[in-house]
This record gives sequence, structure tokens and C-alpha cells, in this order.
Amino acid sequence: MPAAMPTATPPPEHLRQEVQNVLIGETEIAERVRELAAEIERDYADKDLLMVALLTGTVPFLADLMRHITLPLRLDFMGVSSYGDGTAPGELVFTKDLRLEARDRDVLLVDDILDTGQTLHAVLGKLTDLQPRSLKTCVLLEKTSRRRETVTADYVGFEVPDEFVVGYGLDYAERYRNLPFIGVLKPEVYS
Ligand code: IMP
Ligand code: MG
Repeated sequence: MPAAMPTATPPPEHLRQEVQNVLIGETEIAERVRELAAEIERDYADKDLLMVALLTGTVPFLADLMRHITLPLRLDFMGVSSYGDGTAPGELVFTKDLRLEARDRDVLLVDDILDTGQTLHAVLGKLTDLQPRSLKTCVLLEKTSRRRETVTADYVGFEVPDEFVVGYGLDYAERYRNLPFIGVLKPEVYS
């Protein structure tokens, strides 16, 4: 179960022009990531886990998540990009293929956020063709209101409202990925 919606707090002084509020703070993220890791650890105890993370937004999440999983696992990346400089989903472009063998492995696809579902739908299609033994998905965030493809994530960190969020890996025009929290971007930044 995703954690309940956290209450909003103001961002640090230097970000107040751009970030409306902190939606999910560092402590909350850390706690939830540990819970997800524990769930994954339990479910994959006797499996052959291959984590496949999508570049670039998963980097902080993935780094924290994997360090709380003590099972032996493999890690690989796929590059896929759906946004130009805006906040509306555009055409999907694959920028990097898997390097490791996925066939007969238990693949866990990791992404930053499940929004319209376009990205996960396309990537799951590609991964299915590689004939993994099992295929599941883990996302840090989920926006349920804008779903266009029937995709569900097996592990979800937090459900978020239909607002454009940045930080902890998530970007707007490739910025804000380094924020340690998840914040709501002020609409005037992108409109
Ligand atoms: P989908 O294909 O519409 O499900 O969108 C998934 C991708 O869109 C994610 O991997 C993100 O890169 C991006 N995305 C969707 N919503 C947001 C957001 O609120 N902030 C930043 N990136 C987002
Ligand atoms: Mg992105």
C-alpha cells in the first residue's frame, strides 16, 4: 500500500521562487524506501533478481533502494525519454538498451513515476520480448488521474496528486534532480 498523502511544508529559502511546497520530505522518503526494500527482499528471497532501472530519474531512488536489499541481485539500465523541455508527455525515445541477459531472470523494472503509463507500457513490452521468468514493476511515485495505458505498478512508494513534481531524481527540463525532497514545481516555472 502506498503511504498516505503527506502534508505540505515550505521549501528551503533558496528554492521559494521555483518550488511551491515540499510534498514529501527526506525523512518520509527514506522510511518508505526502506519499507519497499523490505517488501522486495521478502518477495525475491529465492529468485534470480535483475533490477532494470530507467535512466535518468531513478538514480537517487535506486541507489537508496538497492542498498537496503541484502539479496544477491544484478543491476542494469535502460534509457528512455518521454519529455522534451516541457511537462507534457511526448514521443518515447529509447536511448540505451539492456546489457545483461534478462531471459529466465526475475526482472524488476524500476522507474521514478508512473503517470500516463506510456513509458512503462512500452518498456514492459520490450522486456516481455526478452522472456524473463517474471516481470514486475516498482515506482517511487504514482499519479493515478492521468492514466492512459492499463499499467499497474507492483510496488509503489507514494501516490501523488496531479501536479508537476520535481526532486529526488525527478526533473523539469533536466533540472531539480538533485533536490533531496520531492516538491511541487510552481506552474509559472513551466507555463
Ligand atoms: P508516463 O509515461 O506518462 O507514465 O510518464 C512517466 C515519465 O514521465 C516518468 O519517467 C517521468 O520521467 C515523467 N514524469 C511524469 N510526471 C512527472 C512529474 O510530475 N515530474 C517529473 N517527471 C514526470
Ligand atoms: Mg523524466
